[in-house]
Amino acid sequence: MSILSKVTEAIVKFAPDRDRDELSEADRIVGKPIDRLDGVDKVTGHAPFSAEYPLEHLTHACLAYSTIAKGSIKSIDIKAAQNAPGVIAVITHENAPKMKDPPLFSPNGSTDAAGSKANVLNTDEISWNGQPLAVVVAETLERAEHATSLIRVAYRQESAETSFDKAKAHAVKPPEIMREPNEVAHGNAESALAAAEFKIDQFYQTPRYNHNAIELHATTAVWNGDKKLTVYDASQYVIGVRDSLAKMFSLDKKDVRVLSPFVGGGFGGKGSMWPHVQLCVLAAKVVKRPVRLMLSREGTFRAVGGRTPSDQRVALAAGKDGKLTALIHTGVTATSNNNDFAEQFSFPARHLYSTENLFISQTVTHLDTVANTFMRAPGESIGTFALESALDELAYKLDIDPVELRLRNDPETDPAKGTEFSSRHFKEAYQLGAEKFGWQNRSPKVRATRDGHWWIGQGVATAFYPAYRLPAAARIRMNADGTALVQSSVQEMGMGTATAQTQHAAERLGLSMSAVRFEYGDSDLPQAPVAGGSNQTVSVALAIQQATGKLFNELLTLAKQDPKSPLAGAHLDDVRAINGGLFRRDKPDIGETYAAILARSQKSFIEAEVETGMPFESMKYSMGSYGAQFCEARVNEQTGEVRIARWVGSFDTGRILNPKTARSQFYGGIIMGIGMALTEETLFDERTGKIMNPSLAEYHVPVNADVPRIEAYFLDIPDPHTPLGAHGIGEIGITGAAAAIANAVYHATGKRIRNLPITLDKLL
Ligand code: MOS
Repeated sequence: MSILSKVTEAIVKFAPDRDRDELSEADRIVGKPIDRLDGVDKVTGHAPFSAEYPLEHLTHACLAYSTIAKGSIKSIDIKAAQNAPGVIAVITHENAPKMKDPPLFSPNGSTDAAGSKANVLNTDEISWNGQPLAVVVAETLERAEHATSLIRVAYRQESAETSFDKAKAHAVKPPEIMREPNEVAHGNAESALAAAEFKIDQFYQTPRYNHNAIELHATTAVWNGDKKLTVYDASQYVIGVRDSLAKMFSLDKKDVRVLSPFVGGGFGGKGSMWPHVQLCVLAAKVVKRPVRLMLSREGTFRAVGGRTPSDQRVALAAGKDGKLTALIHTGVTATSNNNDFAEQFSFPARHLYSTENLFISQTVTHLDTVANTFMRAPGESIGTFALESALDELAYKLDIDPVELRLRNDPETDPAKGTEFSSRHFKEAYQLGAEKFGWQNRSPKVRATRDGHWWIGQGVATAFYPAYRLPAAARIRMNADGTALVQSSVQEMGMGTATAQTQHAAERLGLSMSAVRFEYGDSDLPQAPVAGGSNQTVSVALAIQQATGKLFNELLTLAKQDPKSPLAGAHLDDVRAINGGLFRRDKPDIGETYAAILARSQKSFIEAEVETGMPFESMKYSMGSYGAQFCEARVNEQTGEVRIARWVGSFDTGRILNPKTARSQFYGGIIMGIGMALTEETLFDERTGKIMNPSLAEYHVPVNADVPRIEAYFLDIPDPHTPLGAHGIGEIGITGAAAAIANAVYHATGKRIRNLPITLDKLL
């Protein structure tokens, strides 16, 4: 046992369990389907996004991109661009001020945020097709774009590694995947597989994908002298962007402010800082005026990473009873030579099914491409496609219903770590989903149902996502008028954060929603983690919970200064927050309002700030969310076209804080899963390393006509080991979705498609 794991074990043993949060059951405000607080501002155009700040003397920047994958710049001719009307500056590696290297995002809890470590414009080296080579700043966006088109680059081209298939031969095995040991080996899975009566051993492939948030990546940079910087950035991580820019431009963190109050979708693409951010800041330094740099849709494909392709093997063995005797999940993904992210496709297999012989391991290969990055449920989305397709294949081999097969393998403890589950209601999620979908009416046979030219089938798959928490800070100010201000730097990218945390704070403080104001999306506020890994809700909820406790203690101390106070002698445990104050639990009429306490003390406000600690609970328990995705697909026998006819998702994701915003999260995840399964694919030319479909005209996300009525249900059972009993829910909706579709297509047609997307050519 390593020193590190001994230390971890000791910490886990002695780390006290937090008490179950009594607000897990609260229903005054938490749990209510409250309309999103930012909704009206957004639909009426009053919510400014990063490219919408009306600044005086604003200039506009545009990027020129490399058209080769590897080599260096022989010469760059910018004369015509410089002379074009309205141009203020053309910045290239020949004249760009020096920046420190971008600090690469790492999962070790630091605040480094760069998606790519390439110091573009401070080098003549080219390491991907699409790398920014020049920034043009002009008086208008159109003039910047026109001038950019006049730049001519001559290259010294080198041979590039752009073929995933060829590079797989020299893939490497990282010791850790997202801070988990890469390899899990219990028993002897290969020999159990060899000996088994019923088995599946298959390869599954997923292609490259790109995020396509409606709001394009955009940065607006404003320098105040040489030392102070304000940046409006479309970001999932304002603290990460602040700290990274401070490092790159040698500034004091305190002098950099990153604002991102409204974000029009992120899906992981805005979780890191991509080169246009530092280039916008650099351009503003050069022209000494504010600069706005909004990537075009094409620019987003060139300069911002997407999801890796994957090639996965899943092998399953079972006895006649359907109990798994071996589970093997291995495979390879790609990363770039400018980052190091082995997407964690093997994570679901660690936590879902019971088996004595388990083998999990993944490798990664380095390509000369744009850096890959997190995309909604990185790992779990593509991993569940492979694992849950294989389970479906096994179910047919065994002639056991696919729902039943999964229930027979529901483990008592975590299959990889052996730890207890903090909360797991996998069976209930399946039972609820099967009932709502009408699964019992499904024929066990393939090609059993048709309607004219359409074959009809039903498929099911497990959804899974870990329940993460990260350290976070929050500050609460209670004002003398009895209103509260709650602050944390968290991001609201459309998922309902602002609404859910306002509900939470109002419930916890015993106030009405209208008495609470929540400020967020600003790096000057108490520091919150990246809005990623579905961690944000729970991370900030704990900070608010702990800050509330601290605030109440200070209020009790104030109250006690007057011996006649009804709260004199009361401890935190003796009171609860209700009706705008603290009242005794044993005598609910006895207590004082916050306003009364503050008035007597002649204070205009009282404040408490807390930063939460490490998530030891996730070392002690296996913490995850579970679900079952049911879908009905129709496949046209003449054209091979697949239409999704019906969808039921049923989820075990802890307590639901707001069923209205939560349901939208599940819908969004499922719709993104429909895209992943049927229409989306980043087309990559291996000869040139170029992405060939960098537009919404050619990269097909599902549109309304592709999406059926979706029903999303949640069990709403609190996890006793999380604040509010909640789990994050932003990512689980996409997991299992692609497998449910592939499984429904198989049930409809008898054709098993193991490589996404399921396009009609594969079905004809
Ligand atoms: Mo999510 S892919 O961690 O924004």
